[in-house]
Amino acid sequence: MTPQEASKAAADVCNLAPVVPVLVVDDASIAQDLAAALVHGGLPALEVTLRTPAALEVIAEMAKVAGGVVGAGTLLTPQDVEAAKAAGATFGVSPGATDLILDACEANDLPLLPGTATASEAMRLLERGYTVQKFFPAAANGGAPALKAIGAPIPQVKFCPTGGVSLQNAHEYLSLPNTLCVGGSWVAPKDLVTAKDWAGITALAKEAAALAR
Ligand code: 3PG
Repeated sequence: MTPQEASKAAADVCNLAPVVPVLVVDDASIAQDLAAALVHGGLPALEVTLRTPAALEVIAEMAKVAGGVVGAGTLLTPQDVEAAKAAGATFGVSPGATDLILDACEANDLPLLPGTATASEAMRLLERGYTVQKFFPAAANGGAPALKAIGAPIPQVKFCPTGGVSLQNAHEYLSLPNTLCVGGSWVAPKDLVTAKDWAGITALAKEAAALAR
């Protein structure tokens, strides 16, 4: 898969809804219910971070949920890329971008949303052909004003800002012309997941899905 093809696919994922839930799931037995709660609330694109021992199994379970588009986050190594693809992930997300990760995603036909935090990093990815990138960590890097400033000289790169994004500040990003969607963990808070409060999570997803962009 070329970087251009990857960016086209990443844009398609980002355009599904204003928010991509960032999920840290410990227990694969609740994966389908959690995914269904988010999908029913209007958030079909789901990022499952590879930060728990259960993550690959969670991806495989969530991939069975109708209407869901399941990706793997926290891709750090080529092995992560191969394992995510094998588990059924249809897109990948990385906190930063290295040649090893870009090579692995291209070789494995896994569309990547590569992380970037500065103009130089965005330019380097753009040189390789990646026009859709994740701005990470968004809030710590200056938030929406920083992303807006990057968009002035580099308007052809579109972003999914992630990290410190909330229901309260998401509109600051979503109103920018270079923001396709945002990523955030607030739609699946640990207390609601632990309580298996799927109705509560669907309500949070609906609220997020209704954000204007
Ligand atoms: C992450 O990598 O954990 C994501 O950026 C989510 O960040 P958040 O918890 O601040 O939404």
